[in-house]
Amino acid sequence: MIDQAKQLREKVLQKKSKKERRQTRIIAVTSGKGGVGKSNFALNFALTLVQQNRKVLIFDVDLGFANVDVLLGRAPKESIATMIEKDLSIWDVIEEGPNGLLFISGGSGFNDLFQLDESKMKKFFSELSTIQGYVDYIILDTGAGLSYENLRFILAADDVILVTTPEPTSITDAYSVVKMVHTKNQNVHMKLIINQCTSEKEGKQTADNFNKVTEQFLNKQIGTLGYIPIDINVSNAVKKQIPFLLAFPNSHASQAMQNLTSEFLQLPVPYKLGIKGFLLKMLFK
Ligand SMILES: Nc1ncnc2c1ncn2[C@@H]1O[C@H](COP(=O)(O)OP(=O)(O)OP(=O)(O)O)[C@@H](O)[C@H]1O
Ligand SMILES: [Mg+2]
Repeated sequence: MIDQAKQLREKVLQKKSKKERRQTRIIAVTSGKGGVGKSNFALNFALTLVQQNRKVLIFDVDLGFANVDVLLGRAPKESIATMIEKDLSIWDVIEEGPNGLLFISGGSGFNDLFQLDESKMKKFFSELSTIQGYVDYIILDTGAGLSYENLRFILAADDVILVTTPEPTSITDAYSVVKMVHTKNQNVHMKLIINQCTSEKEGKQTADNFNKVTEQFLNKQIGTLGYIPIDINVSNAVKKQIPFLLAFPNSHASQAMQNLTSEFLQLPVPYKLGIKGFLLKMLFK
């Protein structure tokens, strides 16, 4: 186990000198309503970033219903919860997925961490700190809604991607997330993804209306990262347990992922707090 951890760490670092190390940016993917496509978005976004030569770790922090591993057709034995339980290194529990994508799951019992067990918390923080500089992005796939844990992840991340569909129920719940986050901190960088659109026009209209409402009631424009069409290939890929970007690279959904990822990479990068900042915010929020 220890050797395997060492090998993975060395492979990821690729013998870069300290100076060349990566600046890690933490992105939380969240939604108001459940089942809108967060996990599929998070996983395929991570894979598109990997295709663009970025090093990415996807961290499944959906404490109730972790499913990135299911979407990948993998059944890892270890998780953050077992890392703490068995006193392992984080490099023992990180798995390598397709194209060198790294992934890790919180695991059941992970939420005990938030019950303020100081020694567990310390272990989690010191292990997570060792990833700093090894990856460009950590993508957190959070659960839906405004649980205490979700809110902590959202407020601690460098960027938040809020996924909604054009359905009013999903939009109303997404708005509640923006409102709650805004009350806690007005400087959170949030961007919208409209998933399962029947047309680009519908996506654009949904995003415009959403932004009008946030502008009017919260004086906040959250901006749009992109639109993903409703595409049967997404559901077919889920059934195959292969990410749609790899199973159906030419599908409309995959093309939309490529486009929005290129746009994402061109956005100006706000200051990044990285892992240390993330951990500090998790502690003190
Ligand atoms: N663009 C899309 N086109 C067609 N179907 C989609 C699309 N995005 C998601 N789906 C369908 O929605 C289902 C749920 O997606 P996913 O598991 O990613 O949602 P989620 O928001 O992570 O759910 P949860 O809140 O339970 O974590 C998928 O299994 C797929 O069938
Ligand atoms: Mg999910």
